[in-house]
Amino acid sequence: MKEIRIFSPATIANVSCGFDVLGLCLDNTGDEMVIRKVTEPGIRITKIEGQQLPMEAEKNVAGVAAIKLLQAVEHTGGFEIEIYKKIKPGSGIGSSAASAAGAVFGINKLLNEPFNANELVGFAMEGEALASGAKHADNVAPALLGGFTLVKGYEPLETLKLNTPSELYAAVIHPQIEVKTADARSVLKQTVSLKLAVKQWGNLAALVSALYTEDYDLISRSLTDEIVEPMRSPLIPGYSKVKEAAKLAGALGSGISGSGPSIFALTKGRKSAEAVAAAMGEVYQEIGVDFDLHVSAINQEGIKILATK
Ligand code: HSE
Repeated sequence: MKEIRIFSPATIANVSCGFDVLGLCLDNTGDEMVIRKVTEPGIRITKIEGQQLPMEAEKNVAGVAAIKLLQAVEHTGGFEIEIYKKIKPGSGIGSSAASAAGAVFGINKLLNEPFNANELVGFAMEGEALASGAKHADNVAPALLGGFTLVKGYEPLETLKLNTPSELYAAVIHPQIEVKTADARSVLKQTVSLKLAVKQWGNLAALVSALYTEDYDLISRSLTDEIVEPMRSPLIPGYSKVKEAAKLAGALGSGISGSGPSIFALTKGRKSAEAVAAAMGEVYQEIGVDFDLHVSAINQEGIKILATK
């Protein structure tokens, strides 16, 4: 295999109660990338369509993740990367993660898979570090593993794939403003009271349990975040109104997608996700904010191979 074309999906990080540890993979929103094996050593970004992003590999999230992987393997040749960007940077649905995860996934395939998924997550996190200054894995892990993923720990890095209830859907609304992850992280206090921590880890553990027992009612009661959401929601116009509308339209729960400004809601069934998406859209229509909507099943597979040569 000399060349691989992939679909690299958007992802929702945090999922309310799992800041920096929980994430899920979307199905129909994502970038396309072509990765090509060449004799010339090193990594070159040869094409970017859809967004203005750096072409220098050392300044590009896909480039730095790929460089990190190449440093860990004995390989004399190099790779060219083409990126067809559909996920807007600063949208909160894992734009940088899709590029970084896609690059390491593609190169690993072209090298006959010397690395496992957990190791690929480690390389892809280098892209996240470049994008936001923080090596978080809760977008790159679901992009690479599919479904819901949990970062059990960062030192050492250990990522787990969780069960996804079969009827679970996501609705995501992206108000057309940009919130950089670095900025959304800079508003966070670095300490948490024990009382709030107890609430949060209770909800996170209950959510993980509910994913396995496919208990939609427990999912609904666990989707809360009293730590990060109050600090970040002021960055998102109409946030509480959107949440209220989602709930009224039947969402199991909703929250900030990753570092925002996108807002996600989880639902039981596609019809419910469509109704929730419409209700969230009405809020932004009323307050006059442009938006994009995504309704998606949970993508169990993660990155998909579209073609090989
Ligand atoms: N866990 C990260 C954050 C996700 O909330 O900053 C960013 O997409």
